[in-house]
Amino acid sequence: MLSRVAVITGGASGIGRETALKFAKKGDRVVVADFNEVIGKQTVDLIKSNGGEAIFVKTDVSNYEDVEALVDKAVETYGRIDVMFNNAGIGRITPVLDQNLEDYHSVINVNQHGVAYGIIAAGKKMRELNINGVIINTASVFGFLASPGTFAYHATKGAVIMMTKSAALELAEYGIRVVAIAPGVVDTPIIQGYKDSGVIDSMKAKVMGNKLTQPEQIANTVYLISLEEASAVNGSVIMADEGYAS
Ligand code: NAI
Repeated sequence: MLSRVAVITGGASGIGRETALKFAKKGDRVVVADFNEVIGKQTVDLIKSNGGEAIFVKTDVSNYEDVEALVDKAVETYGRIDVMFNNAGIGRITPVLDQNLEDYHSVINVNQHGVAYGIIAAGKKMRELNINGVIINTASVFGFLASPGTFAYHATKGAVIMMTKSAALELAEYGIRVVAIAPGVVDTPIIQGYKDSGVIDSMKAKVMGNKLTQPEQIANTVYLISLEEASAVNGSVIMADEGYAS
């Protein structure tokens, strides 16, 4: 297979970082996009030290101009964009009636608008360049199942699922696939703040084997979805949740 170009938001840490390493290891050129410049550049350095090709682009996915500039930078650097992984996300635990509205808007802006902007900017560019690309969005099992304290997060992950299906319907005309991945409980920094509170233990108990998923497992699944061999996977939500049950 020819070397593809994959743009990965939230590529500095957790699932995004492991996905960046996976694509690079497979010979794809990677654009690591993140708010966090320090660890984002470390991801790029690691890819390069392993003989891969990557650049870092500081991006705030909640800002459309930033996302458009990210896609432009990928094309300016590598000439194309084959994979857009809209993965950056944040979480906040607050009871709904104690919800700080600033937090609520932050979660919506990053998790929902960030994915929408990625779909729009990458989709436009793929259409313009006549590329049969794939856009993969990180949803969550929390897009289907409710859990206390994560009101805004649920709203955004439900939105990611329906944005995926809606965009897939329209972009099929241009040969562009749009797919969502829905992890369960993954051992990344996003959940580390909850480790002492018992929240993680109660979530783990809902998973087959009572364990945390490792971010490489999600990265591997994203990679498989991205392949041409998976071309029948479109408008779908791929559950990678180890059987998480409410
Ligand atoms: P993480 O905290 O390790 O990674 C998230 C990355 O997104 C960080 O590098 C962060 O700097 C970046 N980011 C945050 N706001 C940003 C912004 N405005 N612009 C650009 N980058 C920004 O967490 P993790 O777990 O790797 O999360 C990745 C995705 O997976 C998120 O969408 C999350 O909701 C989702 N997810 C995570 C699960 C878990 O249990 N860890 C389960 C289901 C879904």
